[in-house]
Amino acid sequence: MTKLVISYFVQIVILALLFNMGQTTVEESGNDVASVHVINGLPEKSKAMKIECSLKGKSVGIFHDLVVGDEYSWIVKEKGLYFCEAIWGGLVGSWHAFQPSRDANHTSVFWLVKHNGFFLSWDNSTWIRRSTWETE
Ligand SMILES: *[C@@H]1O[C@H](CO)[C@@H](O)[C@H](O)[C@H]1NC(C)=O
Ligand SMILES: *[C@@H]1O[C@H](CO)[C@@H](O)[C@H](O)[C@H]1NC(C)=O
Repeated sequence: MTKLVISYFVQIVILALLFNMGQTTVEESGNDVASVHVINGLPEKSKAMKIECSLKGKSVGIFHDLVVGDEYSWIVKEKGLYFCEAIWGGLVGSWHAFQPSRDANHTSVFWLVKHNGFFLSWDNSTWIRRSTWETE
């Protein structure tokens, strides 16, 4: 009887662990800080690109097969440094998607990914290049 209870308990713990590992988003921790938007502005008929973003080494989202024109976004839940990496054909790029010292006073942070680099905007209209593509 006791063995059965222990076995049941162990299964619950394993299930809980598996469930946690499957999560790709950051846990809710109070108020939303900002939203980050990544817009694929690569030339028409470009190959799909892949983006992975993380906070403190923990993935907050992997976006596969982004096609031209698509926009991806997530909510920043804590004032930490969000780091993104993109792969497009043989090129790689990385940038700080949300950087508290730079973005803390903005509710939206926009990134436009183009053939010549990664552009930042806080209003989805005026853009400043912050990073460029590099060969792998
Ligand atoms: C945010 O705004 C406050 C008040 O205007 C200012 O003191 C602070 O330096 C700003 N922070 C950033 C990261 O721009
Ligand atoms: C940003 O601007 C583009 C082009 O004007 C528009 O399609 C998109 O919906 C805007 N995104 C947000 C979140 O406002």
